[in-house]
This record gives sequence, C-alpha cells and structure tokens, in this order.
Amino acid sequence: MELKDKFGRKISYLRLAVTDRCNLRCKYCMPAQGIAIVPRKELLTYKEMYRIVRVLSELGVNKVRLTGGEPFVRKNFIHLLESLSFNNKLDQINITTNGALITNYISKLESLNINTINLSLDSLQKNKFAEITRRDVFEEVYKTLIALENSNLTVKVNMVVQSGVNTNEITDFIELSKTKNIAVRFIEEMPFNGKGQRHIKEVWNYNKILHHIQNYYPKVVSVKTEKTSTSHMYKIPDYKGTFGIIPAFTRTICNDCNRIRITATGMFKNCLFDGGVFNVRDFIRNGASDNDLKNLFIETVQGKPKNGFIAELNRTSKVSESMSTIGG
Ligand code: 5AD
Ligand code: SF4
Repeated sequence: MELKDKFGRKISYLRLAVTDRCNLRCKYCMPAQGIAIVPRKELLTYKEMYRIVRVLSELGVNKVRLTGGEPFVRKNFIHLLESLSFNNKLDQINITTNGALITNYISKLESLNINTINLSLDSLQKNKFAEITRRDVFEEVYKTLIALENSNLTVKVNMVVQSGVNTNEITDFIELSKTKNIAVRFIEEMPFNGKGQRHIKEVWNYNKILHHIQNYYPKVVSVKTEKTSTSHMYKIPDYKGTFGIIPAFTRTICNDCNRIRITATGMFKNCLFDGGVFNVRDFIRNGASDNDLKNLFIETVQGKPKNGFIAELNRTSKVSESMSTIGG
C-alpha cells in the first residue's frame, strides 16, 4: 500500500505543524496582537503525532518536516523528536524554525540525526529584523545561524521577499552564501497572514527576484535539485553555498508535488492552498484503528488537487489564515 494521487504523484513527504503558537509576530504572517490560538486540548498530542507519522511512514512517507508556529515553543518538543528518531522508515526529519529559542539545542539536534534546519530570517539588520518580526531578537537568531553553520546539520535560510521592506537586502543574503555552506532561499510572499492585510506596492515574484539577482551577478548558474524540490537553486561560481527561489505564490512547482500537511489541530491538507480536508485528530479520538487511518489517508490523497490554483478555487473561504495555523 502506498500513497499515490490520481495524477500519479507519489506522496512521500509530510509537513506536520506541532503548534500554532509563535514567539514572534512577523508582519506577513500575523497581525500585531497575534492570531486566535486554539485551546491546548485541541492540539494533537505528541502521542497522536507519533502515531500519525508511523502510519504514514508505513504508506511510504519517508520524510517529515516539523513546523509551527514555532515548534520550539511547544513544551518538550525535543521529546517528540526523540521518539520520531526511532522510526527507521524515515530517511529525513527536518525542522523549520525562527531560531530564536534553539541555540542551546543544536548539539541535541545533531545527536538525534535531524537532517535539515530551515531557519527563517528576513533581515540581516537588527532594526529591520525587529520591525518585521515585532520582536527584538536578531542577535539570538544570528547566533543560531552561526552555530548551525558550525554543526553537521544542513542549513537553509528562508527569506520572505517583502516588497518595500527587505528587497534591498537580497544581495546581502546571497553574500552570506559566499563563505557559508548554506542554501539561502527567497520565498515569494503569500497572502497567508492571519488577515494582517499588508499592502503590497510592487509584486516581487519569482521572475522579478531572479532578474534582480542576475542584474547584480551576471555569472549566476543553475544548480540541479531533486524533482520534488520547492525551490529552483542557483549559485555564484566560487561561492561556498547556494541560493534558490521558491515560487510559493506563482506555484510553478505543483506538478511534482509529493507533499501533504497536517496542522497543529490535526487538519489534513492535500495542498497549502486548500481549506483542509478532514480532521485526523477527531478520527483518532473516535477510536480509528491503524487500518482505518491508512484507508482514510489513501482515499483522501486521491482528492489532491492538480495544483495550488485549483486548490484555491475549490476553497469556500479566501486564503487569509496565518502560516502559523497552517504550518509553514
Ligand atoms: N508568505 C510567504 N512565506 C511565509 N511564511 C510565513 N508566512 C508567509 C507568507 N505569508 C514563511 C516563514 C517561514 C516559513 C515557515 O513560512 O517565513 O520561512
Ligand atoms: Fe512565527 Fe514564523 Fe509566523 Fe514569524 S512567520 S510569526 S516566526 S510562525
């Protein structure tokens, strides 16, 4: 038994949000007062998460990304990582984090064989960072970046390109890859901002970002990536690291999608842009067996929309929920 959708795409990658809470308040993600977080009992427990991952891994999911909100905000997140690390069907356990709380955990993450850390970092300027995240923690995050770089974890830095806010730093971020073995990824801003209603002056889509970079670095070359990668990768010859662009909003990568998502409250999503398909938490709490779960996953994946535009069209509500709720 494996997970395949009706377009023949094999599903092998789960993004699991461990919490909807976050210690930062990024303007493109949520309003200043934050979003309405759900009561704790509505969150999946670690035991439920472990079980969901185990069942999915028996159906061919071999890669899990843990996201939030900020995963390290949830108590004993390391315990979840410890238990997941016993699942030998998983080839990769990756984490997306804002890095503000993790400096002391890095050697622990290494010892648990975590593969990749995606560090969200939108500015290299302390004041700008504070303006974007509404929290003054640039130093901690930068410390984390340096510690990660010196660890054996693979490091990706995610920068959400925000028109009129940080586009003047795109080349500074590429310069980070000159001496650091990291992959810097520029992400198109999406309207998932918890109704923060940002006014966007000028659209910085994939092509605009690439042209901007090529103008500055005429020698940019393409780097081959896995077919299912969310980013197109490039590098500047002689630079130690690479950089990439993620067409998160223009959605040109959907054809090779291998991903599903489960939110912190257990909502299963076939696509970032769909409204949620069914609640795994309720299904489990109503006594579903592993086999019931498997059948449900197999059936649900059949409904995976061809791409993020179709998914968005099929929604009953507009895309406005925060990435913190969905799981980044
Ligand atoms: N548009 C693009 N990326 C976003 N993220 C959060 N909200 C948005 C948005 N509206 C990113 C974070 C992080 C990842 C989890 O998702 O910056 O890198
Ligand atoms: Fe938190 Fe990430 Fe949202 Fe920023 S983008 S508020 S770090 S969940």
